[in-house]
Amino acid sequence: MRSSTTHGLAGMRLGVFGKGGSGKSTLTVILAKCLQLLGYNVCILDADSTNVGMNSVLGIPRAPLPLIDWFGGTVFSGGTVTCPVDDPTPLVNSKVSVEDLPVEYEARTDDGILLLEAGKVTGRGPGAGCDGPIAKIARDLWIESNGPHPVMVIDFKAGLEDSARGVLTNLDWGLVVVEPTAPAIELAAKLKQISDEIRAGHKPATAHIRSRVLARLVESLYEQSRLLGIETILNRVDNDATASYLTDRLARYGLFPVASIPMDTSIALSWLRMEPIDVLPFIHFLEPAIDRLEIATDRRGPWHGRPLLKEV
Ligand SMILES: Nc1ncnc2c1ncn2[C@@H]1O[C@H](COP(=O)(O)OP(=O)(O)OP(=O)(O)O)[C@@H](O)[C@H]1O
Ligand SMILES: [Mg+2]
Repeated sequence: MRSSTTHGLAGMRLGVFGKGGSGKSTLTVILAKCLQLLGYNVCILDADSTNVGMNSVLGIPRAPLPLIDWFGGTVFSGGTVTCPVDDPTPLVNSKVSVEDLPVEYEARTDDGILLLEAGKVTGRGPGAGCDGPIAKIARDLWIESNGPHPVMVIDFKAGLEDSARGVLTNLDWGLVVVEPTAPAIELAAKLKQISDEIRAGHKPATAHIRSRVLARLVESLYEQSRLLGIETILNRVDNDATASYLTDRLARYGLFPVASIPMDTSIALSWLRMEPIDVLPFIHFLEPAIDRLEIATDRRGPWHGRPLLKEV
């Protein structure tokens, strides 16, 4: 097992970002399999509140129940989970043991990859559709296991909104999928900028928070960020000219892609038919990315089992 020689990515939280339709969920599925083959205990958190089908392309017949219900429902529907923008306080009981979580909230692939779902926007009345509370689960959830520490791969919804809700502060790495479009490059550049600012200690926006205690709490979450950085992964690049153009543009922002997933009809068909993606032909494309993350993570020093949510 990889983690016997290195602490590697065990216990790490990897967040997958990118513009709509860029390939976030596809990357999540292939990356999870690649990590599982390397010996990691892998947990996918589906944190996209709008899209469905992650279980199907993983070959799992039914989606797990949404964790938002386990945590008490959204505040907008009379529940207890608040939006991190208004209320940055940590999710209560955010540390969840795989063994203690009721089985309905868990689903597994045949090869043991755990799938959890943060929650979907549902029709619980007009105005109940803000998914901030779901982002809080994505920000704070910490999965524990009697086995090796799981590496979490978190599939975020498209765009920057969740990063504005503070989710980056609680990730070890942000992975941005870049398809060959200018908006995809722009999004990667913005996430890199936000990541650099967090790491440089810039203060987050708190002008909307009236409570001085909560405003200070947000600042402290940013000060204690565990984020190591942003890496980019190309997707659907089908010729050398496009690849070199993309690489050149990203380099201007200090981004150097760590992997590239080729365009392949079988991936598109799986999403169309809601059938399992045959990931094996693609896993080797991601090995350089995993190597890069492992090396850079190890440089930070061994994982000490620090609690996910920082003591404030
Ligand atoms: N490497 C690929 N080769 C061929 N088609 C691909 C590839 N990656 C993604 N696709 C196609 O692009 C679509 C979007 O991919 P995917 O669902 O992974 O993106 P996403 O970023 O998660 O989208 P969303 O923002 O809607 O969540 C898929 O339905 C599939 O048809
Ligand atoms: Mg998706």
